[in-house]
Amino acid sequence: MVEATKNSPSIFSQMSQLAQEHSAINLAQGFPNMPIDPRLKECITAAVQSENHQYSPYQGIPALREEISILIQRTSGIAINPQEILVTAGATQGIFTTVQSLVGKGDEVILLDPCYDCYDLPVVLVGAKPVHVPLNEDYLPDWDCIEAAITQKTRLIVINSPHNPSGRVWEKKEYLELERILSKYSNLNILSDEVYEYLAFDRPHYSVRNSAFLRERSVVMASFGKSLQATGWKMGYLTAPEALMNRILQVHQFLVFSVNSFVQRGISDYLPEFSAEEVNRDYRSRRALFCSGLEKSKFRLLPCEGTYFQTVDYSQISEQNDVDFAIQLTKEAGVASIPFSVFNQDRRDLKHLRFCFAKMEQTLIEATERLCKI
Ligand SMILES: Cc1ncc(COP(=O)(O)O)c(C=O)c1O
Repeated sequence: MVEATKNSPSIFSQMSQLAQEHSAINLAQGFPNMPIDPRLKECITAAVQSENHQYSPYQGIPALREEISILIQRTSGIAINPQEILVTAGATQGIFTTVQSLVGKGDEVILLDPCYDCYDLPVVLVGAKPVHVPLNEDYLPDWDCIEAAITQKTRLIVINSPHNPSGRVWEKKEYLELERILSKYSNLNILSDEVYEYLAFDRPHYSVRNSAFLRERSVVMASFGKSLQATGWKMGYLTAPEALMNRILQVHQFLVFSVNSFVQRGISDYLPEFSAEEVNRDYRSRRALFCSGLEKSKFRLLPCEGTYFQTVDYSQISEQNDVDFAIQLTKEAGVASIPFSVFNQDRRDLKHLRFCFAKMEQTLIEATERLCKI
């Protein structure tokens, strides 16, 4: 049960609203302002015209699950049976459903802070306890701390690489640590949020699916909102081995049954033309534009190895806390960002802000010009 206090909008909605009120450039909320691929629009339009308007099979239409399986094989070389794929109403629903299916009252779930803000609530709502373990100051996992937080009640560890908000991308050695830990706890599974899988820049994306051992114990979350740059459609999918999928399907079929029929059809017709390399190249050049635009600023850029978020350190500019500084930056400099402390349960403030560079070139140029004036 959620408490009957006044609902407060998430920091993303708050900063977006502030940006609107002050006519600021919105680099806060993570959505692209570029047009989507016209071919994708054509596929969706054709799907609307050809009567795809009734309930579809609840696991997702077979054609789409087949195309997702081919896409995973094409981009990672890993064979996933369409039976191990579930089409979801965005990654958020997949995450919620996974927690509801695999976690129960009194259980514990490890979340690594700073973390995306939709992980906590589903854990609380099933009567389980979110155990927040901080990443280290480089935003990478501290395996000693993680292991120390595991108890006999721990059912799930939620991981996320490429990582929102920091932009770090985990190397293979992190997954070897996970293997070591999971081999000690047979009741423990992984929820791997890989929604930015195509946006790894400085090293290839490593999926939990790359490890045969971890794959049998993991649910992997993907989002078409991120990969097709259509966040408003709320479409995604998860992969899970049969034993976990059977549990997830029991919840999914009564939570949403099936997701939007014509969008499923349209995406399935489009996927053979989709190029993950092109998406990666495109964001790589936006990252380069944004970073070169900030070269002469007083902000210090932290490593952005993936995602479409650039983290900056503003400690040379101000001693203000990050929330106040982000508000001031929106009002006075006209650029909205997200302060990092909101992603930490303990509100730890390292004077870091997150800027989204999934924006048109002109937007990025204008934003960096404004930021250089600080
Ligand atoms: C790490 C992470 N996971 C999940 C989501 C949610 O994705 P969707 O919009 O497909 O629900 C987001 C969206 O920003 C995200 O950044």
